[in-house]
Amino acid sequence: MLICQISDLHVRAGRTLADGRVDTAACLERCVEAIGRIEPRPDLVLATGDLVEHGTPGDYALLAELLSPLRAPLYLLPGNHDERDALRAAFPDHGWLRTGGPFIQYVVDHGPVRLIVLDTVVPGRSGGELCAARLDWLDRTLAAARDRPTIVAMHHPPFRTGIGFMDTIGLADPAPFAAVIRRHPQVERVTCGHLHRSITQRFAGTVASTCPSPAHAIALEIGPGRGDGYTLEPGGFQLHWWSGSALVSHDASTVDWPGPFRFRG
Ligand SMILES: [Fe+2]
Repeated sequence: MLICQISDLHVRAGRTLADGRVDTAACLERCVEAIGRIEPRPDLVLATGDLVEHGTPGDYALLAELLSPLRAPLYLLPGNHDERDALRAAFPDHGWLRTGGPFIQYVVDHGPVRLIVLDTVVPGRSGGELCAARLDWLDRTLAAARDRPTIVAMHHPPFRTGIGFMDTIGLADPAPFAAVIRRHPQVERVTCGHLHRSITQRFAGTVASTCPSPAHAIALEIGPGRGDGYTLEPGGFQLHWWSGSALVSHDASTVDWPGPFRFRG
């Protein structure tokens, strides 16, 4: 099973530039083209939030258009830049976006790896949280399939990254979430977005990680208050390969470079 993860697309209606500089629509187009070149074809594409910039219907209409060339089933979850109702409205055939009550939480259960999507959004805030209702649903959902290897996907990572500015808008009080994850050792990975970078940490008996963005990256600056800016390093996404016994994750670039060239003798 091959899972492609994209994150933090920040699409803007009218293809306006983010911060007057970043063409996020063109970045996503390059990313979709790069995914189209992957062989074998991914079994699904997971997008871990900040799908658009302002949460408007126009943002989501362009997002849907830019993602439409993808040939694999697509699963979306919201980040702090998203608006749940506008997101649901733009993808009317994604019925699972409407099964989580006020939240966008659902299970994808048609491969060897079970995928549980969580909603960490607090409307109007940049930071995230998992309230008791969301954690209770996660606990019950994990308990329903204890023998299935599982990926938990959400926008805000449940750990401090060292990039000080981003840590101030991270997931509030991750301890109750960690306690739930620790009770369910079938969780192979907690995979997130928000940081626009690839970051990994041991977490609650499993591995937690974040996915790069095809657009701007948060500046790699470690320390209190640092990382309050971005760079235009090459865009990225991730490929998660299930080996049959482990989840193996690869960083991929949206740059279309020469090769591969096969080894000869
Ligand atoms: Fe973002």
